[in-house]
Amino acid sequence: MSSFFNDIKEERIYKFFSGGKWVKSSSGNLIDVLSPIDNSLVGKLQAVTEDEVDEILEQAKRAQKKWANFHLEDRAAILKKAAELLRTYCDEITEIKVLEIAKTINSAKSSVLRSADIIDYTANQMNIFNAPYDLAGGDFSPKAKNKNAHITREPLGVVLAISPFNYPINLAVTKIAPALLAGNSVVVKGPTQGSICTAMLIEIFNKAGVVPGAISFVSGHGATIGDYLVGSKYIDMINFTGSTDVGKNIAIKAGFKPLLLEMGGKDAALVFDDADLDLAAEEIVEGAFSYAGQRCTAIKRVLAHRDICNELTKKIIEQVKEKYGIVGDPRLIETQMGPVISLRQAEYIEAMVKEAIGEGAKILLGGARRGNYIDAVVLGEVTTKMRIAWEEQFAPVLPIISCKDEEEMISLHNQSQYGLGASIFTEDKAKAYEVALRLEAGVVQINAKSERFPDSFPFLGVKDSGLGTQGIRWSIEAMTRIKSVVENKS
Ligand code: G3H
Repeated sequence: MSSFFNDIKEERIYKFFSGGKWVKSSSGNLIDVLSPIDNSLVGKLQAVTEDEVDEILEQAKRAQKKWANFHLEDRAAILKKAAELLRTYCDEITEIKVLEIAKTINSAKSSVLRSADIIDYTANQMNIFNAPYDLAGGDFSPKAKNKNAHITREPLGVVLAISPFNYPINLAVTKIAPALLAGNSVVVKGPTQGSICTAMLIEIFNKAGVVPGAISFVSGHGATIGDYLVGSKYIDMINFTGSTDVGKNIAIKAGFKPLLLEMGGKDAALVFDDADLDLAAEEIVEGAFSYAGQRCTAIKRVLAHRDICNELTKKIIEQVKEKYGIVGDPRLIETQMGPVISLRQAEYIEAMVKEAIGEGAKILLGGARRGNYIDAVVLGEVTTKMRIAWEEQFAPVLPIISCKDEEEMISLHNQSQYGLGASIFTEDKAKAYEVALRLEAGVVQINAKSERFPDSFPFLGVKDSGLGTQGIRWSIEAMTRIKSVVENKS
């Protein structure tokens, strides 16, 4: 690691960041970060204590006032500097990230560069603040003609940003950049796997010039320190990405704090009988299997019209073979997707697939497992009685369900507890739009896989998939409140 990151660690022991300083925890407890690639030790994290959390938060509270007093242009310039540094140290961060979470090098790198673009784009959103506007009461009622409201936006205070293992840089940046531009302090709690590169990211914001205390980094087990952070009176807003169970727990523990949550999903690809099946297969395979299916927006089920289901399935299998070199033999297992994050997750996936087979589903491809490496599984003859049809797998497993018509697809789509993204494949754009409006999902793609990109678009989930709307502009709005000053003319 280059000297730029000297302060964040001693040997392979990483520190937490409090009040503008990298420090070791008084707990003396360390948490191992093990690589999913080969179970080797990547580094150790501090298990921060409750007292240390209080100290971080008190400093964050004080620093917020100072940071908010910076001119908006100066905060934006510091963000731009951070984007520049992120590009400069992209390769170094990528290297650690690949070890921590086992993304392929290209995908790990492109998501760091995408994060730098997000920071730049956020810094360019100053117009959200620069345009206070006046409302004339007389427009509403003659009785209010002497009243004028002057409307501006102000920061909420201390934002708690909790990011997941699958995008430790990117999904931290989508929270940090809008929070800081708006004049909030931000306290970042990273995932265990992914926290080392998160620490590198925090150092980038620190060296870019964010005032000491206005950005902090906490490491520790979510179940202990996470709950304590969430419940703290010093936290004014929480932006979380992770599982639905954890998100619901946060909502219970948070009390009366504004929440912005992106949680689980069971994104479906609805493939109609008039779809371009080559395009659909290509998008579905990319959507289902990139990063071994460990994305909130991964395609987690296919709802295919029965007239094209077999042909589509054949094309999906060809695509998987071509892209991932699947051999389906446990002795020869070979994958371009990388392993899943842990052995526990691999075992959970295997059990769910075995259960589906016991109930009549057929493995059409893949399924071999060696440790936490799994050959991409294409699962046919899946019925709605099976758990795999409804539960989020977060894995390289694609269940295909044959449906009698579009109405059945819409109905099965909407019976899910989730509603993050969805995709519709059809040549009939008008029908696609009509169906899109009937799907209970935050974002519906027409003729493409579901995804969050571009980051300037609104991104949200309905039902158990989320609360509030993210996306650069919407995240800034969620991290600020309106101030209305009413002038009364005599
Ligand atoms: O994993 C959750 C992410 O928000 C999904 O983002 O569509 O860029 O993969 P993505």
